[in-house]
Amino acid sequence: MAGIYILGIESSCDETAAAVVRSGEKLESNVVFSQIAAHQLYGGVVPELASREHLKAIVPVVRRPLSDAGQTYQSVDALAVTQGPGLAGALLVGISYAKALAFALDKPLIAVNHLEGHIHAVLLEERQKDDREIGFPVLALVVSGGHTHLYLASRPGAAGWSYRNIGHTRDDAAGEAFDKVAKLLGFGYPGGPIVDRLSEHGDPTAVKFPAAQLKHRDRNDKGDDGSAPRFDFSYSGIKTSVLRYVEVHGLQPSIEARRRALAGIEKPRLEDYLLHCDRQTLNLVASFQRAIVEDLAAKTLAAARACDVATLFVTGGVAANNELRQRFEEMAAMDGLPVYFPSRPLSTDNAAMIAAAAYPKFLAGEFAAGDFSAEAGMRL
Ligand code: KG4
Ligand code: ZN
Repeated sequence: MAGIYILGIESSCDETAAAVVRSGEKLESNVVFSQIAAHQLYGGVVPELASREHLKAIVPVVRRPLSDAGQTYQSVDALAVTQGPGLAGALLVGISYAKALAFALDKPLIAVNHLEGHIHAVLLEERQKDDREIGFPVLALVVSGGHTHLYLASRPGAAGWSYRNIGHTRDDAAGEAFDKVAKLLGFGYPGGPIVDRLSEHGDPTAVKFPAAQLKHRDRNDKGDDGSAPRFDFSYSGIKTSVLRYVEVHGLQPSIEARRRALAGIEKPRLEDYLLHCDRQTLNLVASFQRAIVEDLAAKTLAAARACDVATLFVTGGVAANNELRQRFEEMAAMDGLPVYFPSRPLSTDNAAMIAAAAYPKFLAGEFAAGDFSAEAGMRL
């Protein structure tokens, strides 16, 4: 079928990924190679190790979605790659390979912001489902291991999409808080999926966490004229509260025992985690998740009301969380606001979102200059 086929490449953190998307609306193939096993030993992502793992994986990972989609290097119309934000060394692997391919094949190359990619994961799947019109303005919450950002997007014009950041985290990202708390409690990495599943077994009202108080404007908001309302987040306080709870209630010996027990199991299942978890810990985990979800949902819905948006997107790794999805759906329904999430495989890092975000740039002729490079702290 006719259309514009874009081969997307993503290597910003601990997933090497490639995908083929047709005209920004049809996912033809999607390959994600996770490095979790390599980093698990260290309890988190080790940047140097991530670069080395990307180097090993990039050639076979990029080749696979082409054959899965019945495409070849020659038949695709363009390549797209994540420019940032992310780990500089990891980004460079994807960028260098994409540049070399684009040069050798004489194809255009499109540089994509990873955060814009997460937003386009939602659009890709909505276009794929049916022809429901998306109402503008859209408020998008990008909530992942590195980011907790709120963006306002109005109807895209000929020059493509534009975004206004109206909120971000002042310290830890929500996913980072999940990962740090899971590590602290001896559950391993990554923490989000484990906390998600364990929380169903605990009482989310058992432990009360104080809500984060953000009294002052963020001094790092360069270019912010101070007149627009902001909806910032903060999650390092809750992590400290969990640590304090552990100390006050003497949970350290049981955490050490759990850490040792789980280290001896190659791929722990839910039953393994439950077996090494007492009620108090399950309640702590469930209460922690409840506090994060309530804060994310309350602040995002407040922003949606204040900005009178027509649609809400929730995307990024943490958007895979069951309680979060449920709570956002309930709260958005109360406001009569449609809320969209990506499917779970497209919530976490992938290259389909990069290829999808590249399509409007392809149409606008927005191609990367030959000397572009990784931008670890890239903003959207
Ligand atoms: O978007 P992503 O794959 O990578 C970044 O751009 O950061 O997000 C990864 C983050 C990790 O912090 C992980 O713990 C979190 O998303 N995550 C979850 C869930 N699945 C992944 N957090 C809560 N619940 C989940 N089910
Ligand atoms: Zn991401």
